[in-house]
Amino acid sequence: MSTYQVGYFIGSLSSTSINRVLSKALIRLAPDDLEFTEIPIGDLPLYSPDFDSDYPPEARALKEAIGASEALMFVTPEYNRSIPGALKNAIDWASRPWGENSFEHIPAAVVGASIGQIGTAVAQQSLRGVLSYCNARQMTAPEAYIQFSEEVFGPDGEVHREDTETFLRDFMREFRDHVERVLTVLPR
Ligand SMILES: Cc1cc2nc3c(=O)[nH]c(=O)nc-3n(C[C@H](O)[C@H](O)[C@H](O)COP(=O)(O)O)c2cc1C
Repeated sequence: MSTYQVGYFIGSLSSTSINRVLSKALIRLAPDDLEFTEIPIGDLPLYSPDFDSDYPPEARALKEAIGASEALMFVTPEYNRSIPGALKNAIDWASRPWGENSFEHIPAAVVGASIGQIGTAVAQQSLRGVLSYCNARQMTAPEAYIQFSEEVFGPDGEVHREDTETFLRDFMREFRDHVERVLTVLPR
């Protein structure tokens, strides 16, 4: 069985991130032919075009990690109705230098958890706009806006509600199909 290498971003730098907990559930429920590697963003300096001629090691590692991925998954909180600055900073690094946009044609999925009822819907819209401009090939449906509860999500990827588990499993199966479709016409 051939596998697809999926790099994933956690938009939160929090040591107790609920989005990291969600990512564990998503990875656990994903089809077996998806292999996941986290792409860390916490040590990146703030992007400046001054670096374009000589990227620092953290930013080179970021671009190499995306280059080694066949698809990307973004698991992000909503901060003030948008995405956290750390995630936007990572995207800005990866989209540059001009002409070396790491997101060109890469299959991608966007998902997130919030303690609030709208479950990162506004952040995801914001992220989708950014990724559109970066020419990533996003899965448009299904969408997944997760209201986090410790009663539903265990710390190691357990999901204690059957309908939530089924929904997340379907989401990941759709993502796998999306990745396959995109890579069929746009091989990396
Ligand atoms: C700076 C900041 C802004 C926030 N803004 C929002 C928001 O716009 N919408 C929302 O639903 N929750 C918001 N929250 C609450 C987050 O949903 C909550 O802190 C969540 O745990 C963040 O995800 P994480 O645990 O993965 O870091 C905000 C939290 C912070 C720290």
